[in-house]
Amino acid sequence: MTLHSFPHNFLWGAATASYQIEGAWNEDGKGESIWDRFSHTPGKISDNSTGDVACDHYHRYQDDIALMRRLGLKAYRFSTSWTRALPLGRGRLNPSGLDFYDRLVDALCAANIEPFLTLYHWDLPQALQDEGGWENRNTCHAFADYAALLVKRLGDRVKYWTTFNEPSVVALDGNLMGEHAPGLQDPRVAFQVAHHLMVAHGLAVQAIRAANPSLEVGIVLNLWGADAASEDPADVAAANVAWERSETHFLDPLFKGHYAPYAYELLGDNMPKIQDGDMALIAQKLDTLGVNFYSRNLITADGNIDPVPGSEYTEMGWEVCAPALRRLLNRINKEYRLPPIYITENGAAFKDEVSADGKIHDPRRLDYLKNHFIQTRLAMQDGVDVRGYFVWSLLDNFEWGHGFTKRFGIVRVDYETQQRTIKDSGEWYADVIKNNTVME
Ligand code: FCB
Repeated sequence: MTLHSFPHNFLWGAATASYQIEGAWNEDGKGESIWDRFSHTPGKISDNSTGDVACDHYHRYQDDIALMRRLGLKAYRFSTSWTRALPLGRGRLNPSGLDFYDRLVDALCAANIEPFLTLYHWDLPQALQDEGGWENRNTCHAFADYAALLVKRLGDRVKYWTTFNEPSVVALDGNLMGEHAPGLQDPRVAFQVAHHLMVAHGLAVQAIRAANPSLEVGIVLNLWGADAASEDPADVAAANVAWERSETHFLDPLFKGHYAPYAYELLGDNMPKIQDGDMALIAQKLDTLGVNFYSRNLITADGNIDPVPGSEYTEMGWEVCAPALRRLLNRINKEYRLPPIYITENGAAFKDEVSADGKIHDPRRLDYLKNHFIQTRLAMQDGVDVRGYFVWSLLDNFEWGHGFTKRFGIVRVDYETQQRTIKDSGEWYADVIKNNTVME
């Protein structure tokens, strides 16, 4: 047996996002977001569900924090709903919405759980979308004002701040593929959105620092990496091109101060409008980088291998390949000058069954997490500075276009009764946290 011990202050946590768990979509003065509008549009969500109630976390946050204590979480990553704070995205405040996050943060602090707050996990105010959404540069300024408002309210207790969760998903799934809100399919818009998300990030970093210079500020990117299928030079070259195309679009501007040369070739007429000063604004020094990792791309000179023969797949259709996480961490660590890294999401959707004893035996999820924890520890031994790990997700929840059909939680949610049950993977995770060690 091998024991993988982690540094004593390693931040073990779990993650969620406002729209996926809160529910209470129109309560206590909350405004409509693009995800409210999208999920209410027939045909957009595979099981015709909405996040109107979701896990009802808005009303049950105290119970959920009690669960976090039972798991022994040291940190909790959540996102704030912009329209709870500012129903129209700017202007009039909604005091009850701000009070909710106040109470949530107080309860986390009382439970000795470090709050790790994301300002934007995809639920843009619909009122701003009506003015063009992220295609409209004014939205960037509204976002910076919203960031400053939240920091003034919560910055005395919340130390870790994330501007955006997964800008590429916002730009591409929402505005190119149309599978996420706002459901557009327009390459020109999508790449302008991508650039404006970066501008908004830069403005928000400035606003957060101006409001409170002692905070840790970062961004969260979803990275897949691009593994070459063999050492054949043609496969290696193809994998390098795939890396450039899939992974550098945000890493380069954030950490090198310019877009990758490929972007100009690839985007052609769809290259966004960039104003003087934008690149310096985007490349401000950060305190953290969040990496969301679920799966990898496997590349040959003839294209992607998918499915990979012999590999295990999750319910999302994503290949399970933990060693790819170690390779990815080493690669970004070598190619960029990065701040400390947090794995801000990692986890797996599997079909869970409640057994006769009422338990949820989910060995595949447990193994998935175990192997990814070990590969992260190995990457740390290779020299990558990883400070914490957030399992996706604390709770089964509303998985965007898939509705409630994909369960990622280490805690099961019965959506009829809202009953929560810690799965085997959750019990196992509690032991990992308690011992600060993963047993192989
Ligand atoms: C990520 C999202 C998160 C969740 C997981 C499965 O892309 O950030 O909200 O949906 O995927």
